[in-house]
Amino acid sequence: MRDSFGREISYLRISVTDLCNLRCQYCMPAEGVEKKCHHQILPLEQVVEIARAAVALGIRKIRLTGGEPLVRRGIVTLVEQLAALEGLEELAMTTNGVLLPQLGPALRRAGLNRVNLSLDTLRAERYRAITRIGRLEDALAGLDAALRLGFSPVKLNAVLIGGFNDDEIGDLVALTERLPVEMRFIELMPMGTGDFGPGAYVPCDRVLQAVPALVPAEDDSGGTARRYRLPGAPGAVGLISPLSRHFCASCNRLRLTADGYLKPCLHSAQEQSVAELHGAALTEALRRAILEKPGCHDRLAWDSPTKTERTMNEIGG
Ligand code: 5AD
Ligand code: SF4
Repeated sequence: MRDSFGREISYLRISVTDLCNLRCQYCMPAEGVEKKCHHQILPLEQVVEIARAAVALGIRKIRLTGGEPLVRRGIVTLVEQLAALEGLEELAMTTNGVLLPQLGPALRRAGLNRVNLSLDTLRAERYRAITRIGRLEDALAGLDAALRLGFSPVKLNAVLIGGFNDDEIGDLVALTERLPVEMRFIELMPMGTGDFGPGAYVPCDRVLQAVPALVPAEDDSGGTARRYRLPGAPGAVGLISPLSRHFCASCNRLRLTADGYLKPCLHSAQEQSVAELHGAALTEALRRAILEKPGCHDRLAWDSPTKTERTMNEIGG
């Protein structure tokens, strides 16, 4: 279905939990988040009902996010039920990968075929620092499992942070020479978490300066990523620039939070609960959310942070 600006809304991102087994500085408060009561979190049956209604309105792609989706109990069954929805063409997940060696085989059997893994650094001490509690070897085991199990594509997300990992751009890009992965660099978004100074924001163009050998490649992201590759490399590089070039004009997304709110725009406070809605009322709420999707958010910048009142772990990126 088209929104009031003529954009075809075909992509639903579903956050299935705001909990996580890591505490990335740009995403979560250090102390983590309090576990919500059962009645505050959308039951998985309701998630499936909302997804079904959304697919009937033209949603073709669903991505499961968190927090960390793999810590939600019942996630494999959810994947199985979503994969069975007629009309859904793509089912993907964004995960930190830590539980992928354990859950990957069952997820693959259940019908999940695409994964995005968070990998901000290749240095163990930095990985610990940015995730506060994580171990790099666990993330790398997750990457290994994703490739071994044949997830395709496998995309890696690195949030670019000045003074933290901007000296690793070359090493991260070099992964694409060895592995069939898309290495994606994401500009750090001011989401109200983390103690990042003004030097932390690094525009994605820095990647092109650091690795001049990159050549443009075809786009497969519907406009969110600019893609490049190293000549002859099996993998690719994606640049996601929510600050330096926002992609509102081609934004095709709708979001569902773990507590059951539809969010038409990541950076707006606008949201509506669909936790209690069924049948025609649910369809009507989805329709309204699509029609009320803003044309663009206020320009996002370090001194003009997001207008959403939620942190990233509640929205899912
Ligand atoms: N800025 C940019 N990307 C973020 N993510 C989470 N928080 C932020 C932020 N403040 C992205 C990361 C992570 C995914 C789950 O969400 O890429 O891998
Ligand atoms: Fe967890 Fe992902 Fe947030 Fe890191 S970015 S704390 S892995 S949800």
